[in-house]
This record gives sequence, structure tokens and C-alpha cells, in this order.
Amino acid sequence: MKVKVCVGSSCTLLGSMGILDQIDDLKDIISEDADNYNDEELEVEAIKCLGFCKETAEKVAPVVVIDDEIMFNATSQTVMEKIVNKMRK
Ligand code: FES
Repeated sequence: MKVKVCVGSSCTLLGSMGILDQIDDLKDIISEDADNYNDEELEVEAIKCLGFCKETAEKVAPVVVIDDEIMFNATSQTVMEKIVNKMRK
């Protein structure tokens, strides 16, 4: 699974660094509990602004892309839930 976290200025202001930290912690949790998760690798990438925050007047940051699914207004909790749901056996 590929997780991309936008670290452009709007997304960073609204907490994308915290989301990155949480994903790192989650990686440790998953590796310690490997029996309950599929063995797909969890790849995490910090990416530059994708432009979503400039395209609309609505608040979209932080933006996280999990595989091809774009999450707007991402929080650590919604991102963790999505990753765990996809990786749990
Ligand atoms: S800073 Fe994240 S989409 Fe622009």
C-alpha cells in the first residue's frame, strides 16, 4: 500500500507532520503484530503540494492519498482507520 502525505505549507499548517508521525508508529505496531495483518508493504511518502488546496475555496488540507484514494481534511484518526481496515486480515 502506498500512502502519500502532502507536506505543502497548507497541509503542514493543519497537521500533516502529525499524520506522518502516526503512520510511523502504526508501522511499528503492525510489524509487532504481523499475524493479524496482510504482508503488503506499507510505503509512506511525503509529497509536495498537489494543488488541491489552491483549486477550491473550501478547506481540503491536510491531503493524504492512500493508493489512489484521495482523502481531504485528513486526520491521524481517519488515516489510521483506513490503513488498518485495508491491512487487517
Ligand atoms: S499544501 Fe497540501 S494540497 Fe496544497
